[in-house]
Amino acid sequence: MITVFAPAKVNLSLHVVGKRDDGYHLLDSLVAFAGVGDTLDMEPADTLTLDITGPTAALIPDEGENIVLKAARLLAEATGTSLGATILLTKRLPVAAGIGGGSADAAATLTGLMQLWRVELAPERLAALALSIGADVPVCLSGRPTRMRGIGEVLEPAPPLPPAWLVLVNPMVPLHTPAVFKARTGPFSAAEPLTESPADAKALAEALAARRNDLTPPAISIEPVVGEMLAAIAAGPGCLLARMSGSGATCFGLYAEEAEARAAAASLQTTHPGWWIAPAPLLG
Ligand code: C5P
Repeated sequence: MITVFAPAKVNLSLHVVGKRDDGYHLLDSLVAFAGVGDTLDMEPADTLTLDITGPTAALIPDEGENIVLKAARLLAEATGTSLGATILLTKRLPVAAGIGGGSADAAATLTGLMQLWRVELAPERLAALALSIGADVPVCLSGRPTRMRGIGEVLEPAPPLPPAWLVLVNPMVPLHTPAVFKARTGPFSAAEPLTESPADAKALAEALAARRNDLTPPAISIEPVVGEMLAAIAAGPGCLLARMSGSGATCFGLYAEEAEARAAAASLQTTHPGWWIAPAPLLG
């Protein structure tokens, strides 16, 4: 059996720098990963089947083909294999949440099935296949701090990030990516890339303070609770930065120490029992 971890993707900054003719937005984003996520267990089988379990399994919409099966089917077609797999997805991340849960699952499916089926794709073909599943799937395949541009297909390694902790907070309200991009107005923005590795969490927070997530105002216009979450996270002790990830609604706090992150998470969970709150290390 092969087990693959699908970590939450966190946009530490996200600038919308332009828009393509087909409506997709051009981004410049510093993407990292957190030590909380879904897991996928895969075993060889004659056909492709998927079972879903875990605390957030019930949130996955019924309509359409699950992104895991879509990734598996596209990989089988691209490699010409007739092998199948039994896949068990243990879902822990909220859905339609801006932390790439579905994209991370799709990327983990590709990684796991290439091992299970002993098939390979040239890096360019794998990247194109990933992009055809979703704009965030290529960066999730990388799994390391990355400067992401284009609509998600232009990837460059970012400098290593210092040890730091995050608290991810989601209001358990789905926020649909197309709606958030559609609600964005005003001029496009740009930010200097991170060229040096910040010495510590405080230096990382300072570097990020000069950047932002341009999708925050449109996300708040659709779901005002995003503003409430950002204020609640920022007000807690030890929080170096509070920001939204992706198109929301998940927001994160950045902390220097594990104990600070755990204390902040416990305190937020007490005041907001309905929110999904997960302390996790930043994967540097
Ligand atoms: O590719 P993905 O399924 O993640 O994107 C969902 C939707 O989000 C797209 O159909 C598009 O409306 C919007 N989007 C965008 N620009 C991006 C990524 C997504 O406008 N870079």
